[in-house]
Amino acid sequence: MAFRNYILVCGGSGCESSHSDEIYNNLIKECEAQGVAEEVQVIKTGCFGFCEQGPIVKILPEDAFYVKVKPSDAKELIAEHIIKGREVTRLLYDKKKSTKNAKVEDIKFYQKQFRVVLRNCGKIDPENIDEYIARDGYLALEKALFQLTPEDIIGELKKSGLRGRGGAGFPTWMKWNFTKASQGDVKYVVCNADEGDPGAYMDRSTLEGDPHSVIEAMMICGKAIGAHQGFIYIRAEYPLAIHRLEVAMAQAREYGLLGEDILGSGFAFNLEIRLGAGAFVCGEETALLQSIEGHRGMPQPRPPFPAVKGLWGKPTCIDNVETLANVAVIINKGGEWLSKLGTEDSHGTKVFALTGKIANSGLVEVPMGTTLREIIFDIGGGIANGKKFKAVQTGGPSGGILTEEYLDTPIDFGGLTSLGSMMGSGSMIVMDEDDCIVDVAKFYLKFSVDESCGKCAPCRIGGRSLLHLVEKITDGKGTEKDLDQIQEIAHAMQIGSLCALGQTTPNPVLSGMRYLADEYRAHIVDKKCPAGKCKKLITYEIDPEKCIGCTACARKCPVGAITGEVKKPHKINTDICIKCGACYAACKFGAISVH
Ligand SMILES: Cc1cc2nc3c(=O)[nH]c(=O)nc-3n(C[C@H](O)[C@H](O)[C@H](O)COP(=O)(O)O)c2cc1C
Ligand code: SF4
Ligand code: SF4
Ligand code: SF4
Ligand code: FES
Repeated sequence: MAFRNYILVCGGSGCESSHSDEIYNNLIKECEAQGVAEEVQVIKTGCFGFCEQGPIVKILPEDAFYVKVKPSDAKELIAEHIIKGREVTRLLYDKKKSTKNAKVEDIKFYQKQFRVVLRNCGKIDPENIDEYIARDGYLALEKALFQLTPEDIIGELKKSGLRGRGGAGFPTWMKWNFTKASQGDVKYVVCNADEGDPGAYMDRSTLEGDPHSVIEAMMICGKAIGAHQGFIYIRAEYPLAIHRLEVAMAQAREYGLLGEDILGSGFAFNLEIRLGAGAFVCGEETALLQSIEGHRGMPQPRPPFPAVKGLWGKPTCIDNVETLANVAVIINKGGEWLSKLGTEDSHGTKVFALTGKIANSGLVEVPMGTTLREIIFDIGGGIANGKKFKAVQTGGPSGGILTEEYLDTPIDFGGLTSLGSMMGSGSMIVMDEDDCIVDVAKFYLKFSVDESCGKCAPCRIGGRSLLHLVEKITDGKGTEKDLDQIQEIAHAMQIGSLCALGQTTPNPVLSGMRYLADEYRAHIVDKKCPAGKCKKLITYEIDPEKCIGCTACARKCPVGAITGEVKKPHKINTDICIKCGACYAACKFGAISVH
């Protein structure tokens, strides 16, 4: 049945945490209360991408894009937009333009994006299989089961040029082909949905918004490599994604699309979810397999690769969520279609989680080859609060920073690696002038040291030693010799660590030393932190010329370090000051400075 209006409410984790669930329920209640329940369908979708503006509600067919909606807005939206046909201007993204002359695609955030992986996110109800089917869902599976041979499927993947999106960028067709060629009566397909790097939420959002796209791809993989059992390894911290996967799997089983004799083809495929406990190293494929088997997740030497000897010793194909979300499109549209998108080195699109000091944080999907500048300034709207761009960290704790002069680098696997960073799985954290690059390196190092499984010495000992040296620098005790030592330890870790966690742990500090060498020098030679972040290197000072003696700072100081009479210049006792910054934030007269 067609409805007069469709109201799409974002049900992604970001918007749900801002009460989109309540908005959804209130909209349904208001439709009933105002007598339009028969004419209007309210749908809870996955993430729209523009999380900065959430909770988002979109009303079709007008394409009205309502942002920062509150549960209490439901009544007005139904009364005004639905019943009287008048847009609620105060909630529109662009308050100056009605949707009659501004479409969602006109919003700058979306203009340079191209959605393949996120094709259904924000468009369908992920908990309703019919909506997935209505947008060509399970067509590719049908094609794979009835029209294509395993060689045809792998051939299409080869033509597409799809490379793994989990970080390493290995050609997907090759991995499928190796697993297919491995001898074994039992084989497995595993989806890696661990996604543990700070700032990353691409895979979680894909599963929350379009779980069937991953389930369908796993079955296509099963047909191609000769596997009948799959596992989705997902961390327990992602309850919404797990719930939507469970619902999707139950619905697919009910429709005969998962389980025995799928669509009467004789092909069987079963799928189970395995929950991870949130260790970053369990995202590494061999550690992940150990974890599924019930052992402690520790990386294993390769070879043998999982394609030959994986889960319980059987050939196993492990693919990342985003990699898999491309598969049905490749089968439906043909590999050549995807191969035309992107660069010579990397085809298709890439999803990034854009966060940090950026005006428009959110989930972004762009063709490979889009530049960092386009993502940060055109899509991301530049730096928040009018501050100056300093650097961008791509690839999470394994990646590195890139500065202003590299912003025009087209993003692909090879391009970023050649600059000492990496595309990684897609976290992109933007830093401004207030971020200290040594402090940022310390954050990532701490993360990697905490997450190291401790199995091999270069990573276990090297990581700690690097952290110790970087801490020395942020404490103002660093020397030029420490920089040489960092290089030596980093080199040993790169060549001696068993897995990529240890091999890439030094990247954030190395890239900082390479691209923002002056900032390291300031900490070591001048004993200053230019960004004012490293507590041991800064002092707060009150300018008596500017201070009007309002007492605001003294009232905020937690340790009573500020003294002075009302209407007279105040003073900070630096022996007591714990450098919390509360006074700096409290002073409205710009009288306090950080040195
Ligand atoms: C420490 C570490 C963590 C990793 N975490 C993930 C992860 O969360 N998700 C993922 O898909 N790949 C992760 N990988 C990469 C996997 O080992 C593997 O390359 C990937 O799952 C293969 O899938 P793809 O070819 O589709 O990228 C990680 C690797 C390392 C070394
Ligand atoms: S490199 Fe680090 S995380 Fe990897 S096996 Fe060695 S100790 Fe464990
Ligand atoms: S808040 Fe600023 S102006 Fe007021 S007393 Fe403190 S330093 Fe002076
Ligand atoms: S930085 Fe914190 S502790 Fe130091 S003077 Fe200001 S408010 Fe007090
Ligand atoms: S979670 Fe709602 S727009 Fe991303």
